[in-house]
Amino acid sequence: MCGIVGYIGDDRAVPFLLQGLEKLEYRGYDSAGVAIYGGGKINIVKAKGRLSVLAGVLDNNKPLMGTLGIGHTRWATHGAPSDVNSHPHLSENEKFAVVHNGIIENYLSLKEYLGKKGIEFQSETDTEVVAQLLEYYYNGECEGKILDTIAKVMSKVEGSYALGIICEDYPDRIFCVRKDSPLIIGKGDGENYLASDIPAILSRTREIVRIKDKEICVLTKNSMDFYNLDLEPIEKETETIEWDIASAEKGGYPHFMLKEIHEQPDAVRKTVSPRIKDGRIALDEISLTAEKLRNINKIYFIGCGTAYHVGVAAKYTFEKLVRIQTEADVASEFRYREPLLDENTLVLITSQSGETADTLAALREAKKHGSHVISIVNVVGSTIANESDDVIYTWAGPEISVASTKAYSTQLAVMYMIAIYLADLKGAISAEDYDKYMADLQALPEKIEETLRETEKIQYFASKSFNANDMYFIGRNVDYAVSLEASLKLKEISYIHSEAYTGGELKHGPISLIEPGTLVIAFASYGKLFDKMLSNIKEVKARGAVVLGVTTQGRTEIESETDFDFYVPEVSDFMLPSVEVVPFQLFAYYVAAMRGCDIDKPRNLAKSVTVE
Ligand code: G6P
Repeated sequence: MCGIVGYIGDDRAVPFLLQGLEKLEYRGYDSAGVAIYGGGKINIVKAKGRLSVLAGVLDNNKPLMGTLGIGHTRWATHGAPSDVNSHPHLSENEKFAVVHNGIIENYLSLKEYLGKKGIEFQSETDTEVVAQLLEYYYNGECEGKILDTIAKVMSKVEGSYALGIICEDYPDRIFCVRKDSPLIIGKGDGENYLASDIPAILSRTREIVRIKDKEICVLTKNSMDFYNLDLEPIEKETETIEWDIASAEKGGYPHFMLKEIHEQPDAVRKTVSPRIKDGRIALDEISLTAEKLRNINKIYFIGCGTAYHVGVAAKYTFEKLVRIQTEADVASEFRYREPLLDENTLVLITSQSGETADTLAALREAKKHGSHVISIVNVVGSTIANESDDVIYTWAGPEISVASTKAYSTQLAVMYMIAIYLADLKGAISAEDYDKYMADLQALPEKIEETLRETEKIQYFASKSFNANDMYFIGRNVDYAVSLEASLKLKEISYIHSEAYTGGELKHGPISLIEPGTLVIAFASYGKLFDKMLSNIKEVKARGAVVLGVTTQGRTEIESETDFDFYVPEVSDFMLPSVEVVPFQLFAYYVAAMRGCDIDKPRNLAKSVTVE
């Protein structure tokens, strides 16, 4: 949700900013802009559309030569994508330029306040109030003291923000602050960088410093100084990024999504194997004592989008294995529905980015009521990871494609591990079951590899379906959980209308949508409910649907009821989503490719939704 970069050094800033923005385009891509200090003033170029439009303008009409600059790629929230609403935003007398990620929630009252002082606004954005407030307090009450001005503005704005700020009076400095939106500093040699995410600066440095909430950073080319809101200096630790730039690049694949789908066996392996010692699950990350864990009487699974679907699968798994009451909810509902939480409630938060605004708010709500929060997060050091009681990292590596794939697979694997671990602790499963689950868990990467070898079959089915207007995914139990995710993948990147329903609900409404030729994908792998799913398949076939049946190897009786079939390897039934999802990530991918869609950057979506 909006990407920020900054450069200060001896080189021209624009090439670095454009290169960094390209790495951040997954965060938003409806417009982009840069502000460069040069010739004694701040110069701005911005353009509606993809980054390539901005790059074209900078190449052809307006080369900017300065060595200090900030840049932004936008995902519009306040004001439609347009040149004028693009960032950076300037203050009235062009003393300050600002790039922003987040939402200033009280921007209307601030705008009104400044309007009464005669300040004229250019854009419809919330961000412009920050630029205007900076100049207003700098020239007024703060008497030209820049850090006081920034602290004052931070005390006035409500909401979430990561801000990169430059000021005409400080041609050798970039100022940055954040609250509830990510921002990192990169440490170079005679130059320093600012970014929303690590891939933007990885071509120049592996040394980073994370800015925390309500901290101010002042960057020069040779220094970085940090302050709290009282403007007292603070010490920060430098972190070395271990992963390679190659993991944030396409590595020969046409799209990040395809690369990330193929990375799943390895990602699951890396997530699972370090947590198995002597054939047993060792979740050292969980700080709850065995006694406290035994007192847990309810578990909530919370997340957004794909991460929420992991929670739906986990609900079935935990109820079966751990025999505990559970609920899965989307974070945006959970945070406002006054959920029943206390110290005997466990809240499992799932988030790839660790920065999703609604998920973070749900976490805070849970902690406020004394519940223990364990988060499953991919991005190390992210806000959700930092604020949770315990964090279990998924070792999926950077996920760039907006449509999440390897994060889902690794999050599922972590859920299985927690479920087996708790079930064992509670004595809810037998020793034989424990051993079987452990064997299946460790075999998962190979089973996922097996499904990837069936790509051609999926391509064939995609070629038969890519012109469809609607598709329906049905399943029961964990087959329903995976239907939700398969349907989401398809609609996210191919824009085909699709829905997921439980098999049992079909006759309560959705079946009225089935007409001759309607495509139905029926997940029928969950053994106990196979016959029930066969009945559902018959019901839709009787209304003319074209059915792709999905089930485990050997259940060939499905073939007499369906038009197409896809077999997945056998695994413990609660692990089925791991092998069933992969072919339908591929299916969504190939359908979208055949429709000529922009797969890694689907319309209207963003990878990391750091605003409500
Ligand atoms: C956005 C992304 C989804 C993702 C969801 C939750 O909507 O487009 O792919 O599942 O956010 O993100 P998180 O980072 O919290 O897992």
